[in-house]
Amino acid sequence: MNSFYREYLDADINRLGTNCEKWDKLEEHFGRGDLVAAWVADMDFRTVPAVIEALAQRVQHGIFGYTENGEADRAAEIGWLKRRHGVDVQPDWILYSPGVVDSLFFCVRALTQPGDRILIQTPVYGPFYTAVKLFGRTLVESPLDETEDGWRMNFDDVEEKFRGGVKMMILCSPHNPIGRVWTREELTRLVALANRYGVRIVSDEIHADFTFDGCRQTRIVDVEGGERMVMLTSATKSFNLAGLRQSSCIVPDAALRQAVADEIARGHATSPNIFGAIAQTAAYNHGDEWMDAVVEYVRENRDLVVAYLAEHLPEIRVRPQQGTYLMWLDMRGVAGTHDELRDLLVNRARVALNSGTDFGAAGDKHFRLNLATPRRNIEQVLENINLAMRGR
Ligand SMILES: Cc1ncc(COP(=O)(O)O)c(C=O)c1O
Repeated sequence: MNSFYREYLDADINRLGTNCEKWDKLEEHFGRGDLVAAWVADMDFRTVPAVIEALAQRVQHGIFGYTENGEADRAAEIGWLKRRHGVDVQPDWILYSPGVVDSLFFCVRALTQPGDRILIQTPVYGPFYTAVKLFGRTLVESPLDETEDGWRMNFDDVEEKFRGGVKMMILCSPHNPIGRVWTREELTRLVALANRYGVRIVSDEIHADFTFDGCRQTRIVDVEGGERMVMLTSATKSFNLAGLRQSSCIVPDAALRQAVADEIARGHATSPNIFGAIAQTAAYNHGDEWMDAVVEYVRENRDLVVAYLAEHLPEIRVRPQQGTYLMWLDMRGVAGTHDELRDLLVNRARVALNSGTDFGAAGDKHFRLNLATPRRNIEQVLENINLAMRGR
């Protein structure tokens, strides 16, 4: 990483007073405001300089009426997906939606009926549960297996559940919170199973740009048989643009695409945010170097946490994640109930992490640490936890 980006990412930028959820809402969520925030999945880094410039230029125009995404927006996204992920996407496959969670809701309504069975692999990002339950669908959980060699999908369990009448699966790829980047072999096997049992996979790939150690993200529509599936993607996680609300549903199959498009229209979510589209396009066109720097920086933070815990706090177990900037801390080796551990982290260590139970029952005595923050904050989190645990 060059010194420009090293300094850029190390910068300690005060987010307080910007109505940001991560730092401004600590009191509301944790009962106190004096915490190092390492929870909500956004980053404490400024976005790509070219994005800030493009937004500033557009602001000068002064008229912000109803907007459409143009050809240049599609071309920028297609270019990024080809360059960074080796996948060919056609312009008309792209539908826009305000957010990936919004898209999950649209897909549930487009692809299933009330009562239909939808499979998710747990533990997983909370809104996956919400998307199923909110619309009266039946939740089917297939627990991920934690083996000596890392986390694995349980294909036998998935197949048994598909055979039992699952209509749709929501896949998290890369997986939040356990950090797996699914291999092409795993995804090919999963897609083959889904096609055999007539299951549509909706693949949430919002974390796809964060992969480490030579792991490569395979996009679902690039897998054999994946043209029958839906890929949800966005620049918001990659470039720290979540407040701008912009994402894409990429659907190669025309009939399926129409069904999803109808739901987006029914949700009156077709008119994009001007700034979301501008930021996404500038990021996809000019964000390669910035993205490489951020991935390297996050990987360094990850390695720092792994080394620190091994040396000072071996009772907290982690696996260096292959993807995402989120780390799953296993605190089952520390005495106390989940609530006692949460109390230790908040009221003694003064750190704000996500509670593992927000990701399902398997998250008992687990906590999720967000690594996308200047190194100093990560060091602070670690020192605070160490002091709190040693002084217990
Ligand atoms: C797996 C996953 N999907 C979706 C989202 C949120 O997406 P959006 O802000 O586009 O709704 C997150 C945010 O943390 C996430 O981790």
